[in-house]
Amino acid sequence: MKVAVLGYGVVGVGVYEMLGKAQGLEQGPVLVRPGKADAPFKVTSIEEICADPSVGAVAEVMGGVSPAFEYAAAALKAGKHFVTSNKALVAAKGVELKALAEENGVAFLFSAACGGGVPFLHNLSLARRSDRIQSLGGILNGTTNYMLDAMQRLGMDYGQALADAQRLGYAEADPTADVSGLDALRKIMLACAVAYDRLPTEGLLNEGIENITAADVAHFRGRGYTCRLLARGGQNPDGSVYAFVEPVLLREGAAECSVLENYNLARYEGACAGPMVFIGQGAGRWPTASAVLRDLSCILQGQRAMLGESCRQAKADNAALEQLYYVRLPEAFAGRLEAESAETENGVARLITKPMSVLKMHGLAREIRAAGGELFFASIGG
Ligand code: HSE
Repeated sequence: MKVAVLGYGVVGVGVYEMLGKAQGLEQGPVLVRPGKADAPFKVTSIEEICADPSVGAVAEVMGGVSPAFEYAAAALKAGKHFVTSNKALVAAKGVELKALAEENGVAFLFSAACGGGVPFLHNLSLARRSDRIQSLGGILNGTTNYMLDAMQRLGMDYGQALADAQRLGYAEADPTADVSGLDALRKIMLACAVAYDRLPTEGLLNEGIENITAADVAHFRGRGYTCRLLARGGQNPDGSVYAFVEPVLLREGAAECSVLENYNLARYEGACAGPMVFIGQGAGRWPTASAVLRDLSCILQGQRAMLGESCRQAKADNAALEQLYYVRLPEAFAGRLEAESAETENGVARLITKPMSVLKMHGLAREIRAAGGELFFASIGG
């Protein structure tokens, strides 16, 4: 099967090169921006790709929702299988793309969009057919894991760790999506869509790592904790879906603590299968390209979809799950939280809260920030 590639950046170059060596797959044209077609295999028109009968599949690795969506729709309508690593596209338009793929009798696969090289969505899409997925999530952003690990183990400061992650090609073009938790949130949205046929697009909560300081890291370390940015999703007893991202403090010994650098750890818990854990590189050229190629090989074997026919957009409900939180904030704001314990030094309070819902903690953080209080919070995991 000849595969056209949309985009020739970090991942696009990897996909094109891997296509040259993969079984059953062939290099097709590569779509680049006008003015960048400096080799015979590079083209600047999606129409040319759609009209080429020798192209069987299109792999989109350009990122962003537009024009990626318009190109995806054109490719699906032209009867090309469509594979993407673009989480922003699938989070925004996944249900529409699924419908277009069904209408046109072609495949729509996106396992590279969550977990980089880690075969998480692929396995989840198979498991959910026969097992009930009780919960899912994990470390789904390589950039922030690299940063937290470098801050904790190498003593780097925040700016240094971010610059390194960018230099290594892990971060998004605008790294705000990484450090704010948005990138991980998009990935947990996709995992929920695969597991529960509900793509949560409202009611989502994400807290990133922008406010973590070297002093916070030293504080956790001194108490035997490691901080990781975790995405979490699952189904509430009433059938609604919860989905959120936040920093979590984990006791040394938790599997997530040994996940270093840009690695991801994705897990799901099946009612029958029990806990399943997948670890691998979640970002970068070759890991992500390998997941795109894996999806293309799945198409050769007959796989057509990762989303069930009934998949639809839904509102997330994060009110049920209650946790303890570590919160560092100005002493003047400490009274806004119900604390189980508190330490105060030089006007800075470090609290452990009483159990409270994810919805309440994220809401309080928003209120305190709006009133001028700079804070960092993390839930306390096992
Ligand atoms: N910026 C993303 C990350 C790339 O760091 O995980 C892979 O999705």
